[in-house]
Amino acid sequence: MQKCPVIIAIHYTSYGAQWRDLLAERLTNCEIRLWPDWGDLAEIDYAVAWTPPDGLLRQCENLKAVFSIGAGVDQLLADPDYPRNVPLIRMTDDILAEGMAEYVTLAVLTLHRDLLRYLDFQRTADWQPLPQRYPKDHKVGIMGFGKLGQAAALALKPFGFEISGWSRTPKQLAGVESFAGLEQLPDFLAPLDFLVVLLPLTDDTQGMVNADLLSSLPRGASVINAARGGLIDIETLKPLIDGGALGHLWLDVHHVEPLPADHWTWAHPNVVVTPHIAAATLPRTASNLVADGILQMEAGQMPANVVEFDKGY
Ligand code: NAP
Ligand code: GLV
Repeated sequence: MQKCPVIIAIHYTSYGAQWRDLLAERLTNCEIRLWPDWGDLAEIDYAVAWTPPDGLLRQCENLKAVFSIGAGVDQLLADPDYPRNVPLIRMTDDILAEGMAEYVTLAVLTLHRDLLRYLDFQRTADWQPLPQRYPKDHKVGIMGFGKLGQAAALALKPFGFEISGWSRTPKQLAGVESFAGLEQLPDFLAPLDFLVVLLPLTDDTQGMVNADLLSSLPRGASVINAARGGLIDIETLKPLIDGGALGHLWLDVHHVEPLPADHWTWAHPNVVVTPHIAAATLPRTASNLVADGILQMEAGQMPANVVEFDKGY
C-alpha cells in the first residue's frame, strides 16, 4: 500500500473534478489536489496533467512522476522547463486504441466509398451513382505504427484493404507489410491511396508531412492526420490539394487548436476538419491506469510506458 499521505495534483481543465473523484475512489489514503489549489508545490508526489502552464512541474521539486492524460506527450515536453529528471508516463488505455481504430476506419471508408461526393449530390437532389471501388483496389499506409496505428490496421484489415505500416523499428503484424526507417519511407509511400498519420510529435517528426514527402504518393492519394497538427506543414499542402495532387486531407488535429475560424482548411471542399476528437481519454478507465501506476511506484516498481526523453515519446 502507498505511503500516507501521498499527494497527487491534477491539472486538467476539462474533467479535473471527475479525475479527482475517480482517483480518490482507488487511492483512499492519498490527498488529491485539483488545480489551481495545488498548495505547497514541494509537497506534491505525483502530477496528472494534460497541458499545465510552462514551468509549473519544474517548481514541484519533489515529484516522483508525471502521468500524462494523453497518449501523446509533446504538449508536456513543449514546456522549456519540463523536469526531465522525473519519469513521465504516457496514457496507454485501450479505449484510446478503440476510439482511434473507429475514427480511422470512418475516415478511410468515407473517402473510399466517395461519401463526401454523395453528400454533395444530395444537396442538389442529383442522382448520380459513381463506379464502385473495392477495398482490394485501395492501399492504406499507416505512418506511426505503434499502439494506435496497429489498432487502426487491425480494424481496417477485415474489409480487405492492403495495409502497410511505417515505424522507427520493424513490426510483425499478420497480413501487414512493415517498413522501418527513413530509407524505407519512399517505398512505403509509393503505392498508397490513403496515408494515415499516427506518429508522435517529436523533434524528428515535426513538419515531416510536407509537400516534398507527399510527392512520393501517387496523384490523388488522400492524407488522414489524427495524431498532431505539428506533424504536417499545412501551408505547403495547399497547392497540392488545390491542384489535385492530393485527393483529400482529413484533419482531426491542427497546427493551432482551436483552429482559427479564418483558416483555409475549414472551407476547402476537399478537406475534412474535426476538432481533435479522434480518441478522447475516458476518465473512468484511464484513472485506473494512473492509480495502478502510482501504487506500483509506491511499491518501488516503475510502471510501463515511461517516455524516453531522448526519443520524445
Ligand atoms: P506509440 O505507441 O508510441 O507509437 C508511435 C509510433 O510512431 C511507433 O511505431 C514509433 O516507432 C513511431 N515513430 C516515432 N517516431 C518515429 C520516427 N522518427 N520515425 C519513424 N517512426 C517513428 O504511440 P500511440 O499510442 O500509437 O500514439 C500515437 C500518437 O497519436 C500520439 O503521440 C498522439 O500524438 C496521437 N493521439 C491523437 C489522438 C486524437 O484524439 N487525435 C488521441 C490519442 C493519441 P517504434 O514503434 O519503432 O518506436
Ligand atoms: C490525444 O490527443 C492524446 O494524445 O491522447
